[in-house]
Amino acid sequence: MYHIPVMPLEISQYLVNNSNGLYVDCTFGGGEHTSYLLKKFRDIKVITFDWDEDASKMFFEREKEFKNRVIFVRENFKNIKKTLFNMNVKKVDGILADIGVSSKQFDDLNRGFSFNSNILDMRMDKRNLLTAKEVVNFYSNEELANIFYKYGQEYKSKEIASAIIARRKRGIINTAYELQSIIASVKKYKKRINPATKVFQALRIFVNRELENLKILLSNVPELLNLNGRIVVISFHSLEDRIVKHDFKQNSVGGIYKILTKKVITASSEETKNNARSRSAKMRVAEKINV
Ligand SMILES: C[S@@+](CC[C@H](N)C(=O)[O-])C[C@H]1O[C@@H](n2cnc3c(N)ncnc32)[C@H](O)[C@@H]1O
Repeated sequence: MYHIPVMPLEISQYLVNNSNGLYVDCTFGGGEHTSYLLKKFRDIKVITFDWDEDASKMFFEREKEFKNRVIFVRENFKNIKKTLFNMNVKKVDGILADIGVSSKQFDDLNRGFSFNSNILDMRMDKRNLLTAKEVVNFYSNEELANIFYKYGQEYKSKEIASAIIARRKRGIINTAYELQSIIASVKKYKKRINPATKVFQALRIFVNRELENLKILLSNVPELLNLNGRIVVISFHSLEDRIVKHDFKQNSVGGIYKILTKKVITASSEETKNNARSRSAKMRVAEKINV
């Protein structure tokens, strides 16, 4: 399967407040959330974004199933405002963002996200120029250490950066597999967690500018939502969750949002048994209460 969707029921309960409204799914992936919403609410319509070519292909494979109720745009969700404006859409009734990578992206060894990949790439959108290979092979010791620390909270960031620089003297680092071996020479396995986990997360976030994209998306949401429209964000690590929490709080203090999830929502124990990825999912929801 392309991707097992996390918390579909919870998302549908929170997101849809107008049963014949227009919604945005910022992260189509394999289209499972979009499909779930369309089946549950027969009169809603969805505009969906994804910048990945594979997601775009998936949309066209499933298009018939959506019966003209979905429009797909291959675009960075940070450009949501401009894209909706070009479609003559000024406001929507809800916005969903299930951020991060899909299982398909992660498991595909030709994408470079997983430890055994035979390339070093990590771009979700291949139209972007910066790859993990360029960062790992051409950034300075200090730049690498900063990236690993800032985006991976890697406490051995300096040692790992130095090991990469030393290894570079023997030639280009071409694969994710080589990179994880260099990291493993500096850091040991802990409770069966691959020692390269944090560095890989950091590189992925940096290459795709994930935190910046999320901040820009969130900054556009208030003016795009109708009154009582909702924003639902699912994130998978604390750096993202902190951004969402902060944004909702600011808007709530400003009288624009009411936060509907005082405590973050996590997947049920039944869901986490069937989908390991759902264990780290955190959902936050806010409703626009002021025009
Ligand atoms: C966790 S998956 C979403 C899975 C989807 N909800 C489903 O039901 O199949 C995240 C998706 O968001 C996309 N994505 C991540 N950041 C993006 C961005 N800035 N703009 C557009 N798409 C993005 C990825 O390409 C990936 O396909």
